[in-house]
Amino acid sequence: MDVMESIVNRFSCRSYKADPISSEMLMKLVDAGRLAPTSRGLQPWEFVVITNVSTLRELAKQVDSGRFISSAAACIAVFCRSDTDCAVEDGSAATENILLAATEMGLGSCWIAGDKKPYQPVVEQLLKTPPHLKLISLISLGVPAEVRPADRKRKSLEEVLHWQCF
Ligand SMILES: Cc1cc2nc3c(=O)[nH]c(=O)nc-3n(C[C@H](O)[C@H](O)[C@H](O)COP(=O)(O)O)c2cc1C
Repeated sequence: MDVMESIVNRFSCRSYKADPISSEMLMKLVDAGRLAPTSRGLQPWEFVVITNVSTLRELAKQVDSGRFISSAAACIAVFCRSDTDCAVEDGSAATENILLAATEMGLGSCWIAGDKKPYQPVVEQLLKTPPHLKLISLISLGVPAEVRPADRKRKSLEEVLHWQCF
């Protein structure tokens, strides 16, 4: 699968089969994340890979928009240093890299908001986060138990593309 195919095939998968994901695959996903671009090349991130079932269940309990984490085989939490001015952008670039790599590996994934959410400090505490880092996103992962919806609900290219100026 090339990058464009991953972009087209990726969708927010919120239902997963019970199959585990190997450590090698999870390491490859974090590798994809750490190769994303960052402002001033600072690479202000750290990644926590969670496969422990009780931690996944606790995350699902705390994160109201991520209840489906309970059925995921793994979750990658993306953190960035809170003293950098592009922490959200940098963490988001890493998040998208991970989503695309997961798609290429045949895994289902979903971007779950982290920054500015009421559960952000709760998740940070649960994952024993050092004070200089903040949660940017959670990525649920697993063998998909659902297929990509046929209707992508996307604006058309004509609606959003402007040449030279508006
Ligand atoms: C910054 C951001 C935060 C998101 N947070 C959540 C979330 O908390 N829970 C969730 O189920 N989906 C979340 N999503 C996924 C979006 O709902 C999804 O990408 C959007 O509806 C388009 O669907 P698609 O990913 O299948 O193309 C988030 C996506 C982004 C980019």
